[in-house]
Amino acid sequence: MSSTLKSLRVLSDPTRLRIVALLERDELSVNELQEITRLGQSRISTHLGLLLDCALVQARRDGKRTFYKLSRNVEGATQEFIQLAIRGAKELPEHSGDQINLKRVTARRREQAQVYFNQIAGRFDRVYGPGRSWQAFGHLLLRILPPLVVADLGAGEGLLSELLARRCKKVIAVDNSKKIVAFGAAKAKKNGLKNLEFRLGDLQSPPVEPNSIDLVILSQALHHAEVPAKALAAAHKILRRGGQILILDLLMHHFERARELYGDRWLGFAESDLHRWLENAGFKKNEISVVAREEQPPHFQTILAGGEK
Ligand SMILES: C[S@@+](CC[C@H](N)C(=O)[O-])C[C@H]1O[C@@H](n2cnc3c(N)ncnc32)[C@H](O)[C@@H]1O
Repeated sequence: MSSTLKSLRVLSDPTRLRIVALLERDELSVNELQEITRLGQSRISTHLGLLLDCALVQARRDGKRTFYKLSRNVEGATQEFIQLAIRGAKELPEHSGDQINLKRVTARRREQAQVYFNQIAGRFDRVYGPGRSWQAFGHLLLRILPPLVVADLGAGEGLLSELLARRCKKVIAVDNSKKIVAFGAAKAKKNGLKNLEFRLGDLQSPPVEPNSIDLVILSQALHHAEVPAKALAAAHKILRRGGQILILDLLMHHFERARELYGDRWLGFAESDLHRWLENAGFKKNEISVVAREEQPPHFQTILAGGEK
């Protein structure tokens, strides 16, 4: 039988017209079609089989379920049959009831998608979200950065430096550990980051040209300095006018074991001390705030301090 005759025969059945009309805008599963039309599952499956056979309908598997929708991008005659079928279905007595049920089923589907978010509202920021990470947020925020020249003092192996180098004009990573500098430099090279330069040096007298830097970063590094005020004065010296300093460090704590566990020299800092040292170093528009508190004891708190030259 020709495909035209086959399609005409398939569309000569009012139930199949109803199904075609229901699939006009939404893709639906057999269960949903069953709920809308109140027909038995096997009847619906048989009708769908015939519609599939004529390529009037197409199927998509999603896990254990199959969804059906009208065929898209079909050639002229098939497209005309589909339009005729939809028009014909509107003349059937079941049409208005089908459309009401369809609205109900699709509305429930939307609600179900929101159930999860409604359940976790208020806790959302603390629960696991696939693909959501501070690293990803970091990349996003980096896109906002202009192409700066950055000095990362006490850079470690360059976790932050590497992130910054993907966006900044140049990043100079200073650390006083020979091994860490060698490791960080090799990693930067391997990752093709030509604008990230590791230098061996002390953060209290960094090997960086005066007035050459747009942004100095001290991330969990200042509490290793013998004289933190001296480090801030040195940071001021290497910054150009209008340049910024950003410090991430720990709020003063009493966890003595941090000295032996992490090699810390200072047990964090009081906000007032940081403020005074920044001012004495010549920084203006200084701002300090606690930005994070760990949930596990000893509940380290992170402070973010910033100022401008
Ligand atoms: C806790 S790590 C922080 C690394 C990195 N900034 C981060 O946030 O991941 C501290 C780093 O500072 C370095 N450091 C300690 N004292 C230093 C000093 N006086 N001058 C330069 N680097 C120092 C250590 O070698 C270490 O790599």
